[in-house]
Amino acid sequence: MQGSGDTVCMATVIPPGVEVLYTHQQIAERVAEMGAQITRDMNGEKLVMVGVLKGAAPFLADLARAIEGDATFDFVATSSYGKRLRSSGAVKLIKDLDEPIEGKNVLIVEDILDTGLTLSYLRQYFLRQHPKTLRIATLLDKPSRRLEKIEADYVGFSIPNLFVIGYGMDYAEHYRNLSDICLMKADHPE
Ligand code: IMP
Ligand code: MG
Repeated sequence: MQGSGDTVCMATVIPPGVEVLYTHQQIAERVAEMGAQITRDMNGEKLVMVGVLKGAAPFLADLARAIEGDATFDFVATSSYGKRLRSSGAVKLIKDLDEPIEGKNVLIVEDILDTGLTLSYLRQYFLRQHPKTLRIATLLDKPSRRLEKIEADYVGFSIPNLFVIGYGMDYAEHYRNLSDICLMKADHPE
């Protein structure tokens, strides 16, 4: 049971030192707009949505249901080497696509575009497989953190250099199940 002093974050209690940045309702409204835009841009063609595990899973689930048309799912997972090596662009694919994407309309679905190392790596990797089109949808964008020159085609919210959790995003694998996007004010690992 929740004590009377707890802040309720839909199904989950927000931990101390954390505040809501975007509510579930605000996220739903923005995701609906993004889905409508993607539907228009698809122009009746099929789409393969490629989610980047694990953080993008809730966003992909909601975005997919805001898109009208034939959209299939695939997933990849990446890991970066240590923090020091990360700035050298060392990203490793730890789960590959299940199906070939040659000739298909591909939408990469990511939770946060931060330094850009992950999406730059994935973009190059996917382009070598000759999709018909390749676009990127990211829920959050932190443009001030960019190390690689890359922009998303669809951005939910552009934010300053803040560390966020919830709606798929984690701190040491926790808090992914918060319904809202929350701001971690305490010292964070970045
Ligand atoms: P980058 O663009 O290669 O630096 O990495 C983006 C990834 O870093 C995202 O997909 C997240 O997994 C993670 N990330 C970046 N910023 C945050 C944050 O504020 N909270 C949680 N994860 C983050
Ligand atoms: Mg991620």
